[in-house]
Amino acid sequence: MLEHPHSKNMADISVEFAGLSFRNPVLTAAGPMARNGATLLEAAKNGVGGLVAKTVSVRPAEVPKPNMAAIQKGRVGSRRGILNAELWSELPIERWLDREYSIALESGLTLIASLGYKPEEVAEIAPKIERAGVHALEFSTHYVGGHVEIAKVLRESVDIPIFAKLSPKIDVAEVAKSLEPYVDGIVGINTYGPCLRIDIETGKPMLGSEFGQGWMSGAALKPIALRCIADIAMAIRKPVIAVGGVTEGADAIEFIMAGAFAVEVCTAAILEGPSVYGKIAGEIEDWLDEHGYDSVEDIQGIALRHLPKRVELKQPPRVDDDLCTLCGLCPKSCVYEAIELNREKKQLIIHGDKCERCGLCISVCPYHALSSD
Ligand SMILES: Cc1cc2nc3c(=O)[nH]c(=O)nc-3n(C[C@H](O)[C@H](O)[C@H](O)COP(=O)(O)O)c2cc1C
Repeated sequence: MLEHPHSKNMADISVEFAGLSFRNPVLTAAGPMARNGATLLEAAKNGVGGLVAKTVSVRPAEVPKPNMAAIQKGRVGSRRGILNAELWSELPIERWLDREYSIALESGLTLIASLGYKPEEVAEIAPKIERAGVHALEFSTHYVGGHVEIAKVLRESVDIPIFAKLSPKIDVAEVAKSLEPYVDGIVGINTYGPCLRIDIETGKPMLGSEFGQGWMSGAALKPIALRCIADIAMAIRKPVIAVGGVTEGADAIEFIMAGAFAVEVCTAAILEGPSVYGKIAGEIEDWLDEHGYDSVEDIQGIALRHLPKRVELKQPPRVDDDLCTLCGLCPKSCVYEAIELNREKKQLIIHGDKCERCGLCISVCPYHALSSD
């Protein structure tokens, strides 16, 4: 008998929902790293758990150039995110139907096609996409709204599962509730904006769109996305897929604890390349192993029951001297000057009389050396 890919003490990171199976919970997201069959195959080779393709519509998009700008220059930029003024796929729908979807399907992974935008447009292309062998649909309402109408039209047009992708600019919980009868799950969120960046050497906007406006994605978007996912997960029973700022395994774990069944990754793959998918999946597996969990399901939604109760920091944080590396990050960001880094004694000292229990140091420490209990 073939050995199971995970030995006994390794967590099972495969996930199943809406009748679909994924080898791990890290999926591609509609965007330039999913712009054709070849990029989707490349993602598959790099350990992604499932595929979501770039949004297609009745006409190819005419995209302004330039259309992407980092939020900040250099390495910091990759930790913050980007603005983009890309639209949907620049390839004609026929090309996707004849070629790109079947190339992506060669991977053997579950493939979700993204489509938009108006009800009559999705009604026209959805059955053709289903016939191309795609396993599910994700519809994007980023530009037009009208979620329920589109969901109803799709429900009548195809038999495969349908996911609605929501923008953070709407009341996601209310919209998710109104969509629940017609869809198999919700994807959240799309980019936030409009936003702006100016090149200070020229005074000109960095993007070639109208008034230089673009949409924000990446690490900077994550707290908004996380709040949206928790709101949606508390509002509906159907599966939720999270997207927005997933850069490492810990981000994915956070989303899964907030109720996500899987995550999609767009900006991290743009800034770091397709190897990031497998890296994130590996980090999820390691984290589950280290924390004694057997599967992704074990942590799915576990944060939701804590949200209605307020957390309280009753005492000044405690330092675990074994974990503290004396890196100096926490004293630097303690606005109350309550943390002293005593290099002679090789010790971090918290002055309880000065500490205002704001909690920042606990979140700043990369080594989990500070805790509240
Ligand atoms: C350059 C770029 C192009 C995108 N194109 C699409 C698209 O065609 N359809 C769509 O639904 N979302 C699109 N998105 C949004 C992403 O799928 C995702 O929802 C968003 O970027 C947040 O995830 P991230 O922080 O991992 O990038 C695009 C994002 C970027 C950065």
